[in-house]
Amino acid sequence: QSGEGFVAASQAIMAETVTNVSEYQAIAKQKLPKMAYDYYASGAEDEWTLKENREAFSRILFRPRILIDVSTIDMTTSVLGMKISMPIMISPTAFQKMAHPEGEYATARAASAAGTVMTLSSWATSSVEEVASTGPGIRFFQLYVYKDRKVVEQLVRRAEKAGFKAIALTVDTPRLGRREADIKNRFVLPPGLTLKNFEGLNLGTMDQANDSGLASYVAGQIDRTLSWKDVKWLQSITTMPILVKGVITAEDARLAVHSGAAGIIVSNHGARQLDYVPATISALEEVVTAAQGRIPVYLDGGVRRGTDVFKALALGASGVFIGRPVVFALAAEGEAGVRNVLRMMREEFELTMALGGCTKLSDITRNHIFTEGDRLGRPLPRM
Ligand code: FNR
Repeated sequence: QSGEGFVAASQAIMAETVTNVSEYQAIAKQKLPKMAYDYYASGAEDEWTLKENREAFSRILFRPRILIDVSTIDMTTSVLGMKISMPIMISPTAFQKMAHPEGEYATARAASAAGTVMTLSSWATSSVEEVASTGPGIRFFQLYVYKDRKVVEQLVRRAEKAGFKAIALTVDTPRLGRREADIKNRFVLPPGLTLKNFEGLNLGTMDQANDSGLASYVAGQIDRTLSWKDVKWLQSITTMPILVKGVITAEDARLAVHSGAAGIIVSNHGARQLDYVPATISALEEVVTAAQGRIPVYLDGGVRRGTDVFKALALGASGVFIGRPVVFALAAEGEAGVRNVLRMMREEFELTMALGGCTKLSDITRNHIFTEGDRLGRPLPRM
């Protein structure tokens, strides 16, 4: 068999046999150069939190309700006042063209086709204008705050002009977490790829370093002084609502509300920053309680199943975002892969709602699940 024939045949098999989003990881590992795969897959240091982000979901069990007419299920919701087809959105992940030549374009088209939100990374390999040119769609822009605030102002204005609807301000990255695979590989962007949003600003390339090239780039450019007053500053330069991405405590949830944030994303950066923080699903409830319903709370980190989405909503999240499955699916089969990820997540979530006895999102309650905390002595759910 010719090489091309083999690739075509294995792709045909792949499309038939991928039955859940996690399966894309092994395919991506086969297809990608080691440096790229390791960058996408890895977490910080011991990767304890990376494992825990998944395992914590598996310790939450269901209390499904029966004999409820579930012949029609409505998964629609809204985010910051905009209607979306389901409470499942796409997290910002950097350097998507390293996974597939169409990179962020493919992700943008797949999200738009699914009727949901794509969040574009500051460190995308396609610019805000390029992504906007793919067509209509609800898109958020993830912001890293650079030391040079003129650069930040320009970029935020460009995102706003390009039709982006919100800023996801990443607050957990004053320095880059220690990702040892990237250090070993001396990670840099492959030739031909740049941080496209910064190309004209002489900040689009990353130099080779003795450790992770990205960690050095962050040390040189990202503002370690970032604080709550900068959330106010950001509000003074844009009309886009601001989601604070990276809150995992009640204390910071209260500060986020006071800062005028439009919402919170409970995130530990896919376990790539501080190791030994709890899984996001374990931190969610305290953040929700502290937010007191004043602003919506979202979650990312380890969401791989429709059941995970249901559990997050039962604990008070207004929606979830997914990160790695998108880059792994991109690596495997480009836009079709990302579409497939969103389709599988949607179908699994719909099935979970039906089997849990919920026909619309507002039917999902805290009583539909029980957590480890519940088992360890918290009284049984209120009836
Ligand atoms: C990320 N994440 C991230 N976050 C961010 O604010 N800006 C960024 O540029 C990136 N880049 C990035 C690259 C890769 C390869 C990964 C895996 C993650 C974090 C991301 O937005 C999100 O918080 C996590 O990916 C969610 O966890 P899961 O779904 O990957 O488990």
